Amino acid sequence: MCGIFGCILRTDDASSAIHKGLKKLEYRGYDSVGIATLQGNRLFMKKDRGKIDNVHAIHNLDSLPGRLGIGHTRWATHGAPYQVNAHPHTDCKNQIAVVHNGIIENFAELKTELEEAGHTFRSKTDTEVIPHLIEQKMKNGLSLVDAVHETVKRLDGSYALCVISVKEPDKIVCARKESPLVFGVNEDSIYVASDIPAFLAYTNKSVIVHDGELVVLSGKGYEIRNIASWELVKREPEIIDWAPEMAEKQGYPHFMLKEIHEQPLCLRNTLRLQDKYLELMTTFLDRAGEVFLVACGTSYHACLAASYLFSKLSFLATHPIIASEFLEQHGKSVNIDSTLLVVSQSGETADTLEAVESARLRAATVLGLTNVVGSTLTRIARVYICQQSGPEIGVAATKTFTSQLSVLSQLAVRLAKKRGKISHVEIEDIEEHLEQLPDIVERTIQGKEEKVKQLAKKYSGKQVFFFLGRGVSSAVALEGKLKLMEISYIPSLAYPAGESKHGPISLIEDGFPVVFICPKGDTHRSIIGNIMEMKARGASIIAIIEKDDEKIKNLADDYIEIETELPEILSPIPFVVPLQLLAYYMALERGCDPDQPRNLAKSVTVK
Ligand code: F6R
Repeated sequence: MCGIFGCILRTDDASSAIHKGLKKLEYRGYDSVGIATLQGNRLFMKKDRGKIDNVHAIHNLDSLPGRLGIGHTRWATHGAPYQVNAHPHTDCKNQIAVVHNGIIENFAELKTELEEAGHTFRSKTDTEVIPHLIEQKMKNGLSLVDAVHETVKRLDGSYALCVISVKEPDKIVCARKESPLVFGVNEDSIYVASDIPAFLAYTNKSVIVHDGELVVLSGKGYEIRNIASWELVKREPEIIDWAPEMAEKQGYPHFMLKEIHEQPLCLRNTLRLQDKYLELMTTFLDRAGEVFLVACGTSYHACLAASYLFSKLSFLATHPIIASEFLEQHGKSVNIDSTLLVVSQSGETADTLEAVESARLRAATVLGLTNVVGSTLTRIARVYICQQSGPEIGVAATKTFTSQLSVLSQLAVRLAKKRGKISHVEIEDIEEHLEQLPDIVERTIQGKEEKVKQLAKKYSGKQVFFFLGRGVSSAVALEGKLKLMEISYIPSLAYPAGESKHGPISLIEDGFPVVFICPKGDTHRSIIGNIMEMKARGASIIAIIEKDDEKIKNLADDYIEIETELPEILSPIPFVVPLQLLAYYMALERGCDPDQPRNLAKSVTVK
């Protein structure tokens, strides 16, 4: 997730408007920043690693000449956060500049093709293929618009991009597939950005660019075309009446809700990770003597779910372990044959890094899964994967959890293939469902949010909650509990459901709320037994169920139905979504701030 901003003004100060716009987008990424402007037939550019204020202090981003330009604030995905990888990226002759948000899946093939045609690349980014492709097309006589049109037809993956060229210095050509893009107009200027707040200070008239559209912005206005049919699209600007504070959250009242809603997009990003890193990590896991899955909090819950995935799909036994316990429990036994798959959204959690250091001293192999390229974890891991969720501002982890689960599921499927442990039919079924997860999550959010809101109203006065699940759903129960507890301050418990009768059931009395996670797989029969045990003692049952689960519908006081059937092992991703929403709306009902719960910090860098 990166932020892009472009503008065409009447006056010669595009770079300072871009600088201000990028500041508003800094929440989307802050590894590096860059601006390119056009004046006469010359391209001017400044870019560097670091946050906008730091880069501005060194380079004075406002000093670029011209009334037209583009800018970018980056969240590194391909290529570390170095100056050379900062956007804009240019062609061989520095005549075309491009800013891009998204992932170009086929960049390696395109890069080889372009290098063979004589193009020289400077960066390690996927984006750089775009200016070179446009250069190649313009060399063959195409106009800038046609060259961008032909180029985007060759790109697999996601993109929001803006292109400028010295050859046609009166326009910005933009295109969108999946990554967000919107532009704003007023009488004498036009702005394009990743989201509305970036230009809201200049205009409240905005036009959303839809998937599969190309837009030409010029001093005269805008022209939208459908990329596939090349037909003109008519779309009038809408008036945006968000208060500035809401604008930052794209109209959502809280970052947490915005991030819950971003999950379909983030999951799609995880399905576009580079093959070579997934493959490399799978090879390390395959050869490992023993595997520890090390993390804290929500990331630990992803590890716990992953231990079921690795076991059931790839027949690999793993040890999920809370990082702060690692040293005590395994510190002495770890050795050169041990592998740690370390999961940390921030890549900076002190407990997690301490576990990593202790294992490294004993020659163990460290693999990392994180959301932050350039974090300590990425520097010390032998191989790391960036989950590409973009910055998460809400303290409670939501989108980063489901993305972690998606990456870990992909690793487990790859390992299953490598090891030949399950049938190709089962593998294909899992792969197909993995691809469908973003849509399933999208439908779950759209279809169930209202019902969850009502449940939050109904149960907000309860003093304590119980979360139960079996198998992989026990990790979902733990995560549902953590979300509710940390943002609405309701003491809660979570157990593998089978364990509940070994003590916790003594708590149950009339009306005690118990949330059951009930996918329709191997554990379904037993969870029905657990529901009946709780119901017999007066518990109020709230069940998260799969489509048409009449048996549980008849037992539960309330239920949220995930409108699909999928392999149980993949169920955590959609099943956790109603629990995230429940925690969020429960916090609101109880007057708590879901984005900044008391006593917590986003990145826990103390032990
Ligand atoms: C809970 C939450 C925390 C983090 C934990 C680990 O919503 O966000 O429990 O999951 O502090 O953080 P990372 O993943 O950054 O290591």
